Amino acid sequence: MKRGLFLALAAALALSASALANANEAGEKVFKSKCATCHTLDAGKNRVGPSLHGIAGRPAAQIAGFKYSDDMKGSKIVWTDDKLDAYLEDPKKVVPKGTMVFVGLKKAEERKDVIAYIKSKK
Ligand code: HEC
Repeated sequence: MKRGLFLALAAALALSASALANANEAGEKVFKSKCATCHTLDAGKNRVGPSLHGIAGRPAAQIAGFKYSDDMKGSKIVWTDDKLDAYLEDPKKVVPKGTMVFVGLKKAEERKDVIAYIKSKK
């Protein structure tokens, strides 16, 4: 009885762990192909865009020394999953005069994966 429950739990955990690993793998692919020309996930390493290290949950425009657009600086955005999702879908819709030149990720799945990947790199 107990053993059955344990096995069921273990199986459920293994499943969700592998789903997570898959999402991270897919997210890593998206990041490398769509974001990495301009962003790193290493603290303090900016490219054309600011480092995205620890970006999840943080207010926008916090990297000292990075030249953000006035629009981003004044946006009062906090990068929740929903905000990240909206920004990555259509950057100009969220920060109209922002300087991130990116057409957007039109696939919800890609946005979800890349956000999960960014969060996994904390
Ligand atoms: C062509 C270069 C470029 C590409 C490609 C790009 N970005 Fe950016 N990103 C920028 C720039 C520049 C900014 C600063 C925008 C501003 O100040 O208005 C920025 C800002 C951001 C911010 C806000 C950072 C902060 O500190 O508030 C996030 C989040 C972000 N980008 C995520 C991404 C993700 C995820 C991708 C890939 C799906 C991506 N970007 C692709 C250049 C780029």
